Amino acid sequence: MADTVTLNAENKSYEYPVLSGSTGPDVVDIRKFYAETGMFTYDPGFTSTGSCESAITYIDGDIGMLLHRGYAIGDLAENCNFEEVAYLLQHGELPDKATKAVFEHDITYHSMLHEQIHNFYSGFRRDAHPMAIMCGVVGALSAFYHDSLDITNPDHRRISSYRLIAKMPTIAAWAYKYSQGQPFIYPRNDLGYAENFLHMMFATPCEDYEVNPVLSKAMDRILILHADHEQNASTSTVRLAGSSGANPFACIAAGIASLWGPAHGGANEAVLNMLNEIGDANRIDEYVGKAKDKDDPFRLMGFGHRVYKNYDPRAKIMAETCKEVLDELGVKDNALLDIAIALEKIALEDEYFIEKKLYPNVDFYSGIIFQAMGIPVTMFTALFALARTTGWIAQWNEMVEDPHQKIGRPRQLYTGPTERDYVALDNR
Ligand code: CMC
Repeated sequence: MADTVTLNAENKSYEYPVLSGSTGPDVVDIRKFYAETGMFTYDPGFTSTGSCESAITYIDGDIGMLLHRGYAIGDLAENCNFEEVAYLLQHGELPDKATKAVFEHDITYHSMLHEQIHNFYSGFRRDAHPMAIMCGVVGALSAFYHDSLDITNPDHRRISSYRLIAKMPTIAAWAYKYSQGQPFIYPRNDLGYAENFLHMMFATPCEDYEVNPVLSKAMDRILILHADHEQNASTSTVRLAGSSGANPFACIAAGIASLWGPAHGGANEAVLNMLNEIGDANRIDEYVGKAKDKDDPFRLMGFGHRVYKNYDPRAKIMAETCKEVLDELGVKDNALLDIAIALEKIALEDEYFIEKKLYPNVDFYSGIIFQAMGIPVTMFTALFALARTTGWIAQWNEMVEDPHQKIGRPRQLYTGPTERDYVALDNR
């Protein structure tokens, strides 16, 4: 690749350095572009723009590859638990046995919420969406942990990071409990991360509840699959919010808000709604037709990705996990799964989807698994947020430590009125 890129404009020539990462496309360093040319670059949706330097996650969308700190997602999902992957994302290396035990202990012993946080829950309507509760409660944590808010102090950052990772399952499970009018179930220190979440979701004080090991293994794997995904909308939101020096609890609350949208984390909820709406395999062609119709806003939810132009590697593991969970639960005929499999087959053979390189993404099967586990649809995105917190916080820490970090401040192509005379109210 060239060392520089030359731009010619108005009989002048400008040269910009080309930077290479450890793998992936090179980038043109245009930091001096405006100062030298007086022009901005224009890239809505950041389709060609690298916003930061990062050593956490790498995606090669053309071949369907996802690596965390160099390890393939398939290897991590098969061999690690979520806590190990969380450690890897935060610290850059997989932990040895002793380090893993210390990390798991530290996370476990931060999983309780301050008792006064109960009051926040009771301020919400019972039918509040769990994501609304998550935004509110996570943002409110910054009012409880003044002792760890100095973002220039690495110890403060580590404690805040551990608090966020540890408390997220409790916050999410309590959002569900609140919607059911059931008492909050406290975390148990003898349970692993995924197990503890299922325990807090489904136990009641009235009887013993044993977490099914197949389901907790599946949940653990689902959390791993959602742990990080490079500079997506919510991660970029966390970084942008944090670039002003905002505290990590506020930044993660911003990330949750961004994740909520149906084009991002809200897609798993939208997939299930779509499968229910299709309702019968005979109607699949009709919906595929709608997805292809330029005049119809309908899209096949769980299909397509900004970066993957091949099968999303997470979707493959998700499809296998889906089968394991349904087998364990003895679900023989699952109408939604049948529709999903038939829909996937038809879409993958359709010229429109082939040409646009639209493949199933991570959300296509996750909703079916969650529903089989008894998790209500509105909790699906909350689960995504719980898993993604570990990626968000790793990316936030990396940003704070980056010597090139500046407050994020995009420019614009202004198309509004130019300066004009003020018109007094009586004359308008
Ligand atoms: N169904 C039908 N057509 C689609 C779909 C779809 N799901 N996705 C993209 N297209 C078409 C789109 O209409 C466009 O066509 P044309 O070139 O003729 O205008 C072309 O494919 C490119 O789409 P785009 O919207 O320009 O691509 P994007 O990179 O901006 O959008 C996406 C990516 C994920 C928002 C989009 O594929 C989509 O809306 N998918 C459905 C929602 C979904 O499943 N989201 C979950 C993403 S994975 C989880 C996560 O990371 O959050």
